[in-house]
Amino acid sequence: MLRLGCSTALLFVLRLLFGLPWLQVLPAILIFFFGTGGWTSLRVFMKTIGRDLHAAGVLLKVKLNVRRHLREHNTLPKIFAETVQKYGDKTALIFEGTGEKWSFRQLDEYSNRVANLFYQRGFREGDVVALFMENRSQYVGLWLGMAKIGVEAALINFNLRLEALVHCVNISNSKAVVFGSELTDAMCEVHSSMGKTVKLFCSGDWDPKRVPIGTECLEPLIASTPAHKPIPPQRGFTDRLFYIYTSGTTGLPKAAIVVHSRYYRMAALVYYGFRMRSEDVLYDCLPLYHSAGNIVGVGQCLIHGMTVVIKKKFSASKFWDDCIKYNCTIVQYIGEICRYLLNQPVRDTEQQHCVRMALGNGLRQSIWEEFMQRFNVPQIAEFYGATECNCSLGNFDNQTGACGFNSRILPYVYPIRLVRVNEETMELIRGPDGVCIPCRPGEPGQLVGRIIQNDPLRRFDGYVNQSATSKKIAPSVFKKGDSAYLSGDVLVMDEYGYMYFKDRTGDTFRWKGENVSTTEVEGTLSRLLEMKDVVVYGVEVPGAEGKAGMAAIADPDNTTDLERFSRELEKALPVYARPVFLRFLPEVNKTGTFKFQKMDLRREGFDPSVVSDRLCFLDCSKGRYVELDAELHRSIVSGKQKL
Ligand SMILES: *[C@@H]1O[C@H](CO)[C@@H](O)[C@H](O)[C@H]1NC(C)=O
Ligand SMILES: *[C@@H]1O[C@H](CO)[C@@H](O)[C@H](O)[C@H]1NC(C)=O
Ligand SMILES: *[C@@H]1O[C@H](CO)[C@@H](O)[C@H](O)[C@H]1NC(C)=O
Ligand SMILES: *[C@@H]1O[C@H](CO)[C@@H](O)[C@H](O)[C@H]1NC(C)=O
Ligand SMILES: *[C@@H]1O[C@H](CO)[C@@H](O)[C@H](O)[C@H]1NC(C)=O
Ligand SMILES: *[C@@H]1O[C@H](CO)[C@@H](O)[C@H](O)[C@H]1NC(C)=O
Ligand SMILES: *[C@@H]1O[C@H](CO)[C@@H](O)[C@H](O)[C@H]1NC(C)=O
Ligand SMILES: *[C@@H]1O[C@H](CO)[C@@H](O)[C@H](O)[C@H]1NC(C)=O
Ligand SMILES: *[C@@H]1O[C@H](CO)[C@@H](O)[C@H](O)[C@H]1NC(C)=O
Repeated sequence: MLRLGCSTALLFVLRLLFGLPWLQVLPAILIFFFGTGGWTSLRVFMKTIGRDLHAAGVLLKVKLNVRRHLREHNTLPKIFAETVQKYGDKTALIFEGTGEKWSFRQLDEYSNRVANLFYQRGFREGDVVALFMENRSQYVGLWLGMAKIGVEAALINFNLRLEALVHCVNISNSKAVVFGSELTDAMCEVHSSMGKTVKLFCSGDWDPKRVPIGTECLEPLIASTPAHKPIPPQRGFTDRLFYIYTSGTTGLPKAAIVVHSRYYRMAALVYYGFRMRSEDVLYDCLPLYHSAGNIVGVGQCLIHGMTVVIKKKFSASKFWDDCIKYNCTIVQYIGEICRYLLNQPVRDTEQQHCVRMALGNGLRQSIWEEFMQRFNVPQIAEFYGATECNCSLGNFDNQTGACGFNSRILPYVYPIRLVRVNEETMELIRGPDGVCIPCRPGEPGQLVGRIIQNDPLRRFDGYVNQSATSKKIAPSVFKKGDSAYLSGDVLVMDEYGYMYFKDRTGDTFRWKGENVSTTEVEGTLSRLLEMKDVVVYGVEVPGAEGKAGMAAIADPDNTTDLERFSRELEKALPVYARPVFLRFLPEVNKTGTFKFQKMDLRREGFDPSVVSDRLCFLDCSKGRYVELDAELHRSIVSGKQKL
């Protein structure tokens, strides 16, 4: 493969330098192939060359654009100004719910007022203002306006309360908090624990009796501020734009830095990679305090002039109706959204929309095709990439189940790789020379991306907390002495280079000598259980090697038919992957992005004296689930009951 790569690269260069026509170059490459790799390589080459060329073109285009923006010291507000010039009165944002529509010009004027207001109030470049609001009409205008004078917004998850909320405001060093009136109570609770110098602004319905003392009402202030262009700050493309908090499954949220170039790059890679057009209408029902909603979604509006429909809260029953109402051609999803949609009763409207692409991440392979067929969505644009990570991937060519790919012909063009890890602890496995071992096709491994700090395109901007940053970086991964970003996710690559998501850090456990991927089991169980929410995790059983699988199933109406479930489970999963314990609860706790919170569940385990929910145990001698009571629990813990 290496030789093949080199020869292709050489011929590529020849073509570029001497302008040899493809008709001469292609056969030459093919001939080289036969000599070096034989049929397998040829097959791989034929199947992937189109895909790779498209991706190379996208990378090149984005890279050139980034170069230009760097050279011209552009920032996101400047890029937005170009968009406004071009699209002026076209609708930029539609707020589903109120039905409010803002044109590009209106959004520009509003954000100018915001900029001028904060400037008048003494906010300057590098200051941070926290944005804590649920109602969205002004959200984009607010952070964009702040960016126009170099003030950085800290986008805080509106589900946070108390310590977590104070923590987020504190670690960002915010000088002010803009909160939505719907969150007044949450603000009052934490007001006394915040620094006295933190100014408060309230956006929305204003009730001076309820808000913390000293709070100002934002909307009238903005309305009375002039809308002239603010004085642009001395900011460039690699300066900070805003902060996004990553909701770790452990501990408090971490603030990840988003610089202008990263915002641009994330939005542009998706735009060009998936061949979007500015005439597309994008339906964005993801939270705006995360990168999927605010960068991948809203970015298409600010940078590429697309109309974006912003939905305050995802609603499974309204989803397709909204798409029809606004003529949406692209919808954004995260895995759980797809499952909730599939869980809905069949409607006529679900096929009558003009959606041509679903864009997002986390669609499970077990429901991928069902989703496409039932909802008549021709293309799934699955991508991979955390806010703070730069090893992003995209499934540009509609390959079922894949979250992206890396070229097999020229794997070195894009410096990412799967390396071997201990899947339980996620420790990197290193060869005798101390360098990580790359995975072969079919071998699961952790996705890593090489770090080249001086290339702005490839910089890891890290977290506000330096020690959190260093945890995500490992030395000597590609070669001795380099450093690389650790994604924490395990993927598998096939022979064509398509990558398939396997699971997230620590989400694998061992049972009966086998590795069990909780992500996979969750997908299967959820399918068997009519798309109910299912969380799978490993629990320790005294005296037993490894961890026993346990599934928490959200079943408010007690509708699970355990007999049938046991039968189907036998067919669907190998013995070691079948959950030993089941816990039925009305609802499982989720983060704002629908990620399950497993920590508490894992801690509470399967002890009926701790857990008041209904518990069941898989009795392997009977081959079915039985109710788990205190007596059975005792006999399991003492080792009498065979697992
Ligand atoms: C937040 O900062 C304020 C003032 O700097 C301090 O009094 C408070 O203890 C901090 N709270 C937390 C949770 O760190
Ligand atoms: C904000 O949301 C709340 C709750 O959903 C709603 O009652 C209120 O009217 C909204 N306010 C504005 C200004 O949109
Ligand atoms: C959707 O498209 C139809 C037909 O092309 C058009 O009449 C209608 O006004 C459009 N609706 C919106 C909200 O743009
Ligand atoms: C994507 O793949 C599915 C089948 O896997 C196919 O039905 C569909 O037409 C493809 N879409 C595009 C845009 O090629
Ligand atoms: C399970 O994972 C461990 C550590 O990553 C690995 O050594 C082992 O070979 C895996 N076992 C199977 C059956 O995949
Ligand atoms: C990841 O980030 C590092 C450093 O910031 C960079 O050197 C590396 O090239 C990036 N990788 C990708 C695939 O962008
Ligand atoms: C930074 O992260 C480390 C480790 O994750 C943690 O121990 C420390 O408290 C954090 N510091 C702040 C200021 O949040
Ligand atoms: C749920 O239903 C099963 C049988 O369908 C029954 O045995 C069990 O007691 C019920 N549990 C609750 C909490 O209603
Ligand atoms: C869900 O969250 C609530 C509030 O944080 C907590 O009281 C409850 O115990 C959690 N439930 C589970 C099953 O962890």
